[in-house]
Amino acid sequence: MATGATMKPNQPKPKSELGGVVVLDFGGQYTQLIARRIREQQVFSAILPCTASIEEIRKFEPAGLVLSGGPSSVYDIDAPKCDSGILALRIPVLGICYGMQWITHALGGKVEKAERREYGRAHLKVSRGPGSPESALFAGVPESLRIWNSHGDHVREVPTGFHATGHTDNAIAALEDPQRKIYAVQFHVEVNHTECGTDLLRNFLFRVCSAERKWSGAAFIEETTGAIRTKVGHNRAICALSGGVDSTVAAVLVHRALGDRLTNIFVNTGMLRKNEFADTLEMLRDRLGLRVIGVDASDRFLNKLVGVTDPEQKRKIIGREFIAVFAEEAQKLQTGEAQGEIAWLVQGTLYPDVIESVSVKGPSATIKTHHNVGGLPENMPFALIEPLRDLFKDEVRRIGRDLGLPDEILLKHPFPGPGLAVRLLGEITREHLLTLQEADAIVVEEIRRAGLYSKVWQAFAVLLPVRSVGVMGDYRTYGLTVAVRVVESDDAMTADWVRLPGEVLECISTRIVNEVRGVTRVVYDISSKPPSTIEWE
Ligand code: XMP
Repeated sequence: MATGATMKPNQPKPKSELGGVVVLDFGGQYTQLIARRIREQQVFSAILPCTASIEEIRKFEPAGLVLSGGPSSVYDIDAPKCDSGILALRIPVLGICYGMQWITHALGGKVEKAERREYGRAHLKVSRGPGSPESALFAGVPESLRIWNSHGDHVREVPTGFHATGHTDNAIAALEDPQRKIYAVQFHVEVNHTECGTDLLRNFLFRVCSAERKWSGAAFIEETTGAIRTKVGHNRAICALSGGVDSTVAAVLVHRALGDRLTNIFVNTGMLRKNEFADTLEMLRDRLGLRVIGVDASDRFLNKLVGVTDPEQKRKIIGREFIAVFAEEAQKLQTGEAQGEIAWLVQGTLYPDVIESVSVKGPSATIKTHHNVGGLPENMPFALIEPLRDLFKDEVRRIGRDLGLPDEILLKHPFPGPGLAVRLLGEITREHLLTLQEADAIVVEEIRRAGLYSKVWQAFAVLLPVRSVGVMGDYRTYGLTVAVRVVESDDAMTADWVRLPGEVLECISTRIVNEVRGVTRVVYDISSKPPSTIEWE
């Protein structure tokens, strides 16, 4: 049996990951955005903590290095640092914000607290005066640019061998040593508010680093399936499918490599949306051709949740039960008739999940225990296959599209692992679950009908155990309350409530009160995140 080691760290890098750019993270809020902007240019990028060794960096055979921004000052006692040897590798470097300050400091220039800190918009004047050779970084861009800043320190003296190539009213905003191919900017090229930011990044990638555009969906699929085939050999793999985008794309990719040697397990926790168990099973089996075992464990989950009202308790019980059901099914398969040992477990882990654990800042405080169905413990007797470990969510969608997955799956709203349990406040009863499923189905239907489903991040109903007085057909009612939540977001870190047209709200409200027994009041949730969260529990 294979060991519990994951497939990734210390493996040689796949070919499409070589020759890209390594982004060294100083803890800046835009580090992931930098990596993503580079990939948008079809150049692979990997984020490593700034403390990565030269050996780790070299494994990627990078065409260039980018040093990210960060919240510190280079003079802080615990200021993050790279190995300064990276500046002598003869690999082109671009420092951004703190990255520029660190380069300056490391090479003997001077950084100091700014008299006037620069946050937000500023104007950059590109220096191309006599004696100042044209900068490869600024080639083809106007001499005056609107830029986006976020810094309290700035460069006072450039290191030997460097010259300034851009200034704001207050400070040196760009410098370079073209001989050593070390470039630095004080502003954020990766944010949309910086005019020509993409041109500058492109100049760095293609004029300075001569990077090749070889990061594509097709190359990724071909390489990944080939690598999985070689690894798994004659053995078999299993996958916990939730029907969401990540686990489905992962399963379809592995299915492409292994065919029916991949068995998927889809558990009905009883907390799924209306008709979701049957519809998803049909989609996975009949339309995508996956081999899926559907396990209806609703009763088991519901029984464990009797009398439980605390949100964290609900999450923990569901997480624990899910693992138990999955382990039992895996055991049955292992001792079944099929040829080959089940040695591998497929998970739809994405790059942001991986990065969270290597960031110099460390993981942020736990607000909620996000039990992700499919997020199984590593001590299971399987080695992991995590084919999406290097991808961002939008890249996963693109790969999914290349694999022929329908929009129904690719554009599906995120759904929490504990499902409706975190949208049904108070104790979970069968009756209340049915009520919530009905109300939720109406919300989704009306949002679709209004053409808004793919434009919003999530749209759902929440059932509140709050009764209020109403009147229906001359009779007094005393029914439950449904809250409707529709939010827009880019990454679920922040979110805002959607200003739905009055007619859509009216339709949702009327239909819920008329069609869902026991509900007599509908309210619309107008809280943003922060300070609220997207889910209610
Ligand atoms: P919050 O409520 O923290 O949610 O603003 C952010 C995003 O994460 C989803 N979410 C979960 N996903 N397991 C998951 O797999 C969970 O326990 C969980 N809780 C929240 C939520 O739907 C939103 O997209």
